[in-house]
Amino acid sequence: MTLDLFADSGETCTWREELAAGAAVLRGQALANDTAILAAVREVVAQAPFRHLVTPGGLRMSVAMSNCGMRGWVSDRHGYRYDPIDPDSGQPWPPMPEVLRQLAGEAAALGGFQAFEPDACLINRYEPGTHLSLHQDRDERDFSQPIVSVSLGVPATFLFGGLRRDDKCLRIPLTHGDVVVWGGPARLRYHGVAPLKPAWHALLGAQRINLTFRKAL
Ligand code: SIN
Ligand code: FE2
Repeated sequence: MTLDLFADSGETCTWREELAAGAAVLRGQALANDTAILAAVREVVAQAPFRHLVTPGGLRMSVAMSNCGMRGWVSDRHGYRYDPIDPDSGQPWPPMPEVLRQLAGEAAALGGFQAFEPDACLINRYEPGTHLSLHQDRDERDFSQPIVSVSLGVPATFLFGGLRRDDKCLRIPLTHGDVVVWGGPARLRYHGVAPLKPAWHALLGAQRINLTFRKAL
């Protein structure tokens, strides 16, 4: 792992930890704007409330989800897809707030991917004990575009594996404000989240919120 300290345009300093070729953690990248980011998330979920999706195999996902942007990631008995319409409301997903779009673009650039313009932001809510199984993000059309993943609230252990499901995983502690970026040769690496340990965060209580930005189309 290589560490690299750099100053960004604000007052914060961020550690960039290289996880693999094409993958890095930007420590604290979302901290400076955390209250504005959380206010934007609250506005989105007031319009598109969190829900527990069902996998194609019929299992209820323990992580609750919502979306904003031109496309939202959904799962149901028919499979996984990006949909411009929220199936719960029949309305388009709420637009992606500017503060989120900007965070995603800046983080992608710091991770080595210029001009990232996400059209989808998946919002995941984890409660104590919930986890996300190892998976690849592969429902997007263009794998030259990276994934930007923002952690808010209580700490979690991010599992970052290889290109095969049974490759050994790195176990990466992520705390409030950390951003993970992966793309290029790392774009299709398996990843997941270990069961969330009970903890308390001043802004989010017992929860962890994760924002995953993607270019779906
Ligand atoms: C995801 O892979 O969609 C989310 C990862 C995370 O919650 O950190
Ligand atoms: Fe993912």
